[in-house]
Amino acid sequence: MATKNSRIADPRLRDKIMSAEDAAALILPGSTVGMSGFTGAGYPKAVPLALAERIEQAHQHGQPFQVRIWTGASTAPELDGVLARANGIELRLPYQSDPTCRERINDGRMEYIDMHLSHVAQAVWEGFLGHLDIAVVEVTAIRADGQIVPSSSVGNNKTWLDCADKVILEVNSWQPEQFEGMHDIYYGTRLPPERRPIPIIAAGDRIGSPYFSCDPDKIIAVVETNAPDRNGVFSPPDDASRQIAGYILEFLEHEIRKGRLTPSLLPLQSGVGNIANAVMSGLSESRFEELSAYTEVLQDGMLHMLDTGKLAVVSTTALSLSPAATRWLYANLSHYRSRIILRPQEISNHPEVIRRLGCLAMNGMIEADIYGNVNSTHLMGTRIQNGIGGSGDFARNAYISFFMTPSTAKGGAISCIVPMVSHVDHSEHDVHVIVTEQGLADLRGLSPKQRAEQVIEKCAHPDMRPALRDYHRRAMSGSAGKHTPHLLDEALSWHLSYIRDGRMPPVR
Ligand code: COA
Repeated sequence: MATKNSRIADPRLRDKIMSAEDAAALILPGSTVGMSGFTGAGYPKAVPLALAERIEQAHQHGQPFQVRIWTGASTAPELDGVLARANGIELRLPYQSDPTCRERINDGRMEYIDMHLSHVAQAVWEGFLGHLDIAVVEVTAIRADGQIVPSSSVGNNKTWLDCADKVILEVNSWQPEQFEGMHDIYYGTRLPPERRPIPIIAAGDRIGSPYFSCDPDKIIAVVETNAPDRNGVFSPPDDASRQIAGYILEFLEHEIRKGRLTPSLLPLQSGVGNIANAVMSGLSESRFEELSAYTEVLQDGMLHMLDTGKLAVVSTTALSLSPAATRWLYANLSHYRSRIILRPQEISNHPEVIRRLGCLAMNGMIEADIYGNVNSTHLMGTRIQNGIGGSGDFARNAYISFFMTPSTAKGGAISCIVPMVSHVDHSEHDVHVIVTEQGLADLRGLSPKQRAEQVIEKCAHPDMRPALRDYHRRAMSGSAGKHTPHLLDEALSWHLSYIRDGRMPPVR
């Protein structure tokens, strides 16, 4: 039965209300489960925990029980963490950042498909990923007419609700009722050859419905919850982040002087993490005005820019705020409602829209090489850290694509500027600007050899520069091809040296 304050107004669903344990019992071993959740926002809070418990019990009785988990992006310990610890995930896609999942993926016990976030929904519709058995989706409320008010992230939920055979809804009364009307769920996507233009021409355009639709006959369970999202706290910007932010602001000023940008810039995209958040803090104090954002996560830095009026509107697929910023937003939602739009990730990250708007894309990376290739995902070439997330959707299609990192990692033992990246996520063709605390290399319009000079002199740590210069000089004379000169037997020696001796550059 619905509780007194129930947000489940559709009478057809009232007798489907049940406990998380009963709902989890409807998920069968071997199922493919589409879960809500995007960067710690809007993930189901109760059913995954109950499912993990069930899986553990099955394993105790010697019965195999694993599921395949599809989400929007990363979730939280109560979803990825508990299921991974229970050895309950056979395969996971797309982006994730959970330490237990990471460990299991890296030691070969869990399959992981790391995809561009904009590709996931279409790949499901195209049938490339197989059948979706069941969706478990957190929502804010269900209206009397059956329309569903989404939660703090939209992610792939529209696709899960459309494509799954069966649906379990978690109605989380912790999420504010005022969310109603903030979402923009576009139902016009089609597969080729029926595909039509996505009619967004400004970041704030609304093109869809505030609600999800779902056939009530498919909804097999409704679970009531009251639990907070679990996002981390951002560390205050450190010196390196502040310096990186400073170089980017200086560069944007330069672009305005050159007439290539105006003081309202172009829609901002800002990736996950502390550096991206620090750049937004820097923009808060800048002279730029009437900015907009077309991005996939709204972090604290952007919320602050909305507060100060720097930012006029944010289009995103998820709120990815610290607990304090979440409390502030939820307490003042009426002030923000018209200025935050939450969209499905196939739209927030849509290459067509990003190209049309001309986003300024700013993403973190693990390492870059002297020619401008970027590795965002793999430590030392083989160990996945998180995943590519939406960085590729934005980098390939942005007006200007920035990649940022401190110049060294592990207390200076690793150079984040290397002769050849140990894994490529963003090729030299998608990387316009590289920024470290040492400086900014503008790679637009440069040949590979010219890029190498810029990257070494502007971005590498001074301690690493002599060895990088030496490598490049020797490659210029010793390489068979002189377009992108490499000494192939030596190109990855920096990584091998760190793996073997715990230090870069290698001793020659
Ligand atoms: N070689 C080896 N290890 C490195 C390294 C390098 N060049 N650079 C960093 N590391 C290590 C760090 O030491 C740290 O290890 P630890 O956890 O053992 O301390 C780990 O990698 C993470 O580094 P950190 O500096 O904390 O990363 P971050 O939080 O700034 O995130 C990315 C950087 C690249 C991992 C992150 O931005 C990411 O996942 N990007 C891909 C997804 C994306 O861009 N999404 C954007 C759209 S939202």
